[in-house]
Amino acid sequence: MQTTETIIETKLPHLVTPLPGPKAKQIVERDARVLSPSYTRDYPLVAKRGRGAVIEDVDGNSFLDFAAGIAVVSTGHCHPDVVAAIQKQAAELIHMSGTDFYYPNMVELAEKLAFIAPGKEPKRVYFGNSGTEAVEAAIKLAKYHTKRDKLVAFHGAFHGRTMGALSLTASRAVQRKGFGTLLSGVFHMPYPDTYRGTYGIRPENASADCLSYLENELFRRRVDPDEVAGIFIEPVQGEGGYLPAPAEFLQGLEKICHKHGIMLVADEVQSGMGRTGKWWAVDYAGVEPDIICTAKGIASGMPLSAIITKASVMDWTPGAHASTFGGNPVCIAASLATLALIEKSYMANAARMGEFIKRQTADWPERHKIVGEVRGRGLMIGIEFVRDQKTKERAPDLRNRIVQMAFHKGLLVLGSGDTTLRLCPPLMIDEEQAEFAVRTLDGIISEIERTL
Ligand SMILES: Cc1ncc(COP(=O)(O)O)c(C=O)c1O
Repeated sequence: MQTTETIIETKLPHLVTPLPGPKAKQIVERDARVLSPSYTRDYPLVAKRGRGAVIEDVDGNSFLDFAAGIAVVSTGHCHPDVVAAIQKQAAELIHMSGTDFYYPNMVELAEKLAFIAPGKEPKRVYFGNSGTEAVEAAIKLAKYHTKRDKLVAFHGAFHGRTMGALSLTASRAVQRKGFGTLLSGVFHMPYPDTYRGTYGIRPENASADCLSYLENELFRRRVDPDEVAGIFIEPVQGEGGYLPAPAEFLQGLEKICHKHGIMLVADEVQSGMGRTGKWWAVDYAGVEPDIICTAKGIASGMPLSAIITKASVMDWTPGAHASTFGGNPVCIAASLATLALIEKSYMANAARMGEFIKRQTADWPERHKIVGEVRGRGLMIGIEFVRDQKTKERAPDLRNRIVQMAFHKGLLVLGSGDTTLRLCPPLMIDEEQAEFAVRTLDGIISEIERTL
């Protein structure tokens, strides 16, 4: 069996047992008896340890990880700088509760986040433990600051699973089914889908059609804009299918928000922290959200989230909102090490590797009849699978087969939306790994096409 040391040298998959291996099988069986059946596992990967973009399972198989713990381990698995920062902090102070006491690294990280946030206005930061908590905080702050209570979100949105965030989520009915009445006063509108179009037509007009829907339908017929506290948008829709919102749409949305005194809330839980090649996906549009939600990649896998807001917006008073664990010192230490690595080289690497993958896959819609489109920025890339390129009929079964087949070839990928395969590897992957992933998927797609 490989040791932790030798796995550092392993850059590509190496399978030594049929999958799942005997130990993995046992864990999966025990898991099925005791863990929540609400979890969604696509394939039986039982992870033991990770280094960089490689995961070794309990049977000694190693995999190339293009899922990164759902776009979380931004600096790769167990980056030595991050591990060292965690170990040092854990030996010094594990918990204090930043809501009631002070500690230096909480201030340091808040200063850093305020500095890298888009726009010129001074910022303030609130810490939580997960993406959904960041969204909850954003909902509460938007309502508190504006003294309004209506919210707008998008079809296909995923903002989390706690009751407030779930009220904004409109990605899959199963996520809402059975949970009764959610937050009232939430309105959903179409997302600017530049592949299928806002109403399934005119993809080239997606931005204009969506903005028009907001002003001429939603604000005229269903909710007065003066009652809207916030519009929540993922600048790249994540769970909804890795769909980037065009810059002109985000700019138009910002204008409309300003006009009506509505908080523009960018949920960058998945798209932020350098994943798209810039700190924030909104940086490509040059907009300055009133509130940014961040989590996932912020601390390389340690549970931490934050909202970063215009200082003028965060006007709630002591006691209005807090969390015992939010901004835990060990998570913050991991985050400071993570941000230093992203800033030093991984953000630029994400941009470079993203371009590389886009170049390598540019001819896929010509060469592969089931590939509708390859889209995205940096290392947030979606591949859309269709039954027919003309009608764009969705092909969820084909996408699902590809995810399974990739696992059996040692490549970990995830789906997103109904028909998209997402590539969200750690930001530190190199060309050899990117090329392996592209070549493997290319081969799998060809293999599937031969059966059609
Ligand atoms: C855009 C976005 N917001 C919020 C969340 C919720 O994050 P968490 O699972 O950490 O609660 C997710 C998770 O996938 C996400 O992608």
